[in-house]
Amino acid sequence: MSVEPDWLKRAVDQAAALHPYVPGKPLEQLLRERGIAEAVKLASNENPFGPSPAACEAMARALGEVHRYPDGNATELKTALAVRHGVSADHILPGNGSNEVLELVIRTFAGPGDRVVSSKRGFIVYALAAQAAGAQSHTVPEPDGLTHDLDAMAEAVDERTKVVCIANPNNPTGTVHDAATVQRFLDALPRDVVVILDEAYHEFVSDLLGDSWQRLSHPGLVITRTFSKAYGLAGCRIGYAVSSPGLLEIVNRFREPFNVNVLAQQAALAALNDEEWMIKGVEAVKQQRTRLESFLDELGMLGGRSHGNFVLLRHPKAAEIAQELEALGMIPRPLGPYGMADYLRITVGRPEENDRLMDALASIAQNLEIHQV
Ligand SMILES: Cc1ncc(COP(=O)(O)O)c(C=O)c1O
Repeated sequence: MSVEPDWLKRAVDQAAALHPYVPGKPLEQLLRERGIAEAVKLASNENPFGPSPAACEAMARALGEVHRYPDGNATELKTALAVRHGVSADHILPGNGSNEVLELVIRTFAGPGDRVVSSKRGFIVYALAAQAAGAQSHTVPEPDGLTHDLDAMAEAVDERTKVVCIANPNNPTGTVHDAATVQRFLDALPRDVVVILDEAYHEFVSDLLGDSWQRLSHPGLVITRTFSKAYGLAGCRIGYAVSSPGLLEIVNRFREPFNVNVLAQQAALAALNDEEWMIKGVEAVKQQRTRLESFLDELGMLGGRSHGNFVLLRHPKAAEIAQELEALGMIPRPLGPYGMADYLRITVGRPEENDRLMDALASIAQNLEIHQV
């Protein structure tokens, strides 16, 4: 009988405790499963209008350079982001999506015996990254089921806590705190914890929040941003952190040398220079979001007001509604992994996609009513 070596047993045990991130169902999978020719993915909070044409042109120009490694320091991009945030370039750390930055920061500062505090229905990657780092993820419930309880989160911070994470606005609940509230939260935290303020959806509330790096202060503050949402570059994988040079210098030691590829660097630079495109897209998404939320409200299915590029549907038969939507070629995101089995998160699409969604929901709602009678 073969005996498993200790290292293998340890690795298997550790892996068994990890829950992999469940992404939205890929479009191709739905087409295969249902034998249909086309469908709309509304499951991953992507930008329905796509990237700026200037970003596409920049990537096309950079294609001839992909036999070379990228600039491992992403110098030009860091400089452009530094100007954007009114800081020097050593305040910026670009990553392969903001997801990589979140994982890097958590892995850098939390390990076995440490605690990472986040909100129960906060973005799930914080808990997963904590577990992968061997740390304990401690999540704090939301009293109203949606909004981070910042007082309770501050109270949950103990001497083992190394990292605290909030998303503002939050995915999947769509809730937001204004800058003064976030600063009160920061003031209530010990000076020696790292605080991740995840601003993946910042562009949808920039008027409310302003530039958080300029407005907020805490010695361990790490603000993360992404090009995946408002800038429409989810497939390129590009995000970044803004933080103090001292903190980022430590995180940088855990970073792989060429973490941001050639195309992503060029696309992000061009996208930054085409703010007009981004702002037009954000305004259009906000208009469409209002339309969808009013419609859900009329159906009695509105799960809450969202400040991101998605809406929340709430109904006891959410799982059934998701199945029916899929049968009609639309992929929503069920929120079971967040303990929100009666919710669906639906990304705001282009106007014609939203028309199709509303038609589908109207007929599904009618059928549900008939079956309830
Ligand atoms: C709150 C939040 N943070 C971070 C991310 C990660 O985005 P990315 O890795 O594409 O930058 C997402 C993606 O959905 C998100 O919703």
